[in-house]
Amino acid sequence: MAAETDLGPARFVQPLFVHAGSGDRPIDALPGRSRLDLDGLVRTAERLLAVGVGAVALFPAVDESLKTRDAAECLRPDGLVPRAVQALKERFPELVVVTDVALDPYSSDGHDGLVADDGRVLNDETLEILAAQALMHARAGADVVAPSDMMDGRVAAIRDELDGAGFTDVSILAYTAKYASAYYGPFRAALDSAPRAGDKKTYQMDPRNRREALIEARLDEAEGADVLMVKPAGAYLDVIAELRAATSLPIAAYQVSGEYAMLAAAIGRGWLDERAAVTESLIAIRRAGADLILTYWAEKAAGWFGPAAG
Ligand code: PBG
Repeated sequence: MAAETDLGPARFVQPLFVHAGSGDRPIDALPGRSRLDLDGLVRTAERLLAVGVGAVALFPAVDESLKTRDAAECLRPDGLVPRAVQALKERFPELVVVTDVALDPYSSDGHDGLVADDGRVLNDETLEILAAQALMHARAGADVVAPSDMMDGRVAAIRDELDGAGFTDVSILAYTAKYASAYYGPFRAALDSAPRAGDKKTYQMDPRNRREALIEARLDEAEGADVLMVKPAGAYLDVIAELRAATSLPIAAYQVSGEYAMLAAAIGRGWLDERAAVTESLIAIRRAGADLILTYWAEKAAGWFGPAAG
């Protein structure tokens, strides 16, 4: 009764990787996780709903042959993501489907924005594409679009585009404080999306900065974000707490692939107890102030709490 922090599956968003091939393809760097085909995706969603997880975030593993410098594949209305969204919403209208808005899975440069010949990532030129990508996801039925690209001004550009097309009810979950982190390694391996040259430090945040997260939060809120996200989660609990205090919007935190991989590796060797260690990691994120948690443990952890936990 006196516990200060509660946790349950209703707080979780399960990130899922999809691919256009057939069958489910295990991801080496994320033990227990696979790139799913559309059938696998639908089956997974059914299991998630059954244990009380009501939301998924989709990430496409795009065939190398479709990656180009202009990332044009990200705008194709019959591409992998729109087909995945349609498959899910057709079967489970109540499932909250979150799509990732960024160019990196489609870019032969492996960057979240367009890359100039001299290697610079082009902020303003990218905004139009991101807005069009978000609109395409909304048309396919996405409930929430989540720009993870960290270009300046993209929340406003996306909000304008969605509202202009009548999608006023589609929400924006902004990756507000997304740090240039080593913990994204397994995710990039899963999508083969690591930058081909340079790094993401010109648009993702410097791990040394905390006040900068407040600046990003103010901008995203003013531009019309519905949820603000901190990413990664475990190494940035102070930033989660800071944003929680600074805004009335819901705060999300993303326990990213590297955090999952570290836990899974130690658990796999018998060095950590899975249930105890994962629960503690999630409680810490919630205690810091996250309302929503994106975690690769969502389905498994939900089973530990039960749907009644809320
Ligand atoms: C890129 C994106 C990344 C993640 C989500 N969206 C990686 C990156 O910025 O390179 C990482 C998620 C994870 O590591 O689990 N748009």
